[in-house]
Amino acid sequence: MLIIASHNGASGIADAMRALKNDGSAMDAVEIGIRVVEADPSDHTVGYNGYPNILGELELDASIMDGRTLNSGAVALMRGFPYAISVARQVMERKLPHVLLAGAGAERFAREINAEAWEDMLTDEIRAVWRGRLAASTATGEFPSLSDDSPLLEWVKLATDPERVAGTVNFIAIDGQGDIAAGVSTSGWAWKYPGRIGDSPIIGAGNYADNRYGACACTGMGEMAIRAGTARSLVLYLQMGMPLREAARQAMIDLRDLGGDYIGGMNLIALDRDGAHIGLSADAGRTYIYQQADMAEHVEVEREVVEISARWAGLPRE
Ligand code: GLY
Repeated sequence: MLIIASHNGASGIADAMRALKNDGSAMDAVEIGIRVVEADPSDHTVGYNGYPNILGELELDASIMDGRTLNSGAVALMRGFPYAISVARQVMERKLPHVLLAGAGAERFAREINAEAWEDMLTDEIRAVWRGRLAASTATGEFPSLSDDSPLLEWVKLATDPERVAGTVNFIAIDGQGDIAAGVSTSGWAWKYPGRIGDSPIIGAGNYADNRYGACACTGMGEMAIRAGTARSLVLYLQMGMPLREAARQAMIDLRDLGGDYIGGMNLIALDRDGAHIGLSADAGRTYIYQQADMAEHVEVEREVVEISARWAGLPRE
């Protein structure tokens, strides 16, 4: 039994491991671990009290994938329900003929299954950060009033705020049956354009699990993982026979092919069916965590760096 997670999964990994030891499935462990992070008001990139979009609304994305069957469920742009990972799992468990529900449809589904709803998903502290960020961008220093009809094309450039792009939580688990599951949850980019969906709820982009080969989950600039199909690429490289480290490095190196103005940070964690695991990042100093069943607590380890950004233009495509 093994769980790996992004570093901010530290608050949930003990509960997730407890579930595995009590005969819970990998799917249970992933859901339980992520729920803890989603409820944590101090993590501003996941669930309750995440950074809102440019209009100050919190829109959550999440997905979960079952490596036994390749079944998966996902929600995007969901407002008012803190446990996005649980709603995503229910999209799968309720046997809808769908994988991904977004916006009003996701909220309707969440109501229909009686998912836990919270009236206020933001603290005053985070509202003040949002208001301050917008105010600091006006000539007068006054908070602008943005309505449904306000043009947002210029405002949304704040979404590249480098201090607030990073975040998202990843969990991948192998249970006592050898089954693999992977989950991702996020509030997305701070100050994003309303309706922006990242890689986290996109199966194949930010999340992929297949018992036969392994699993991968991503954090970072989701647009890049969508464009390169990063999580699926890594698992496909495993399927093609590459060892885990080579498969993971190749999935990151593929990102060097992406052109355009918005090339930045990307991070992934991955494991293979034998329980080898790895974390990679485009930036130095990033970590991930893991815990095996025989370990009293999780261990935090440094991610290997694979440079991908346009800052390193001229790197070989390999
Ligand atoms: N990787 C999370 C996001 O881009 O929304």
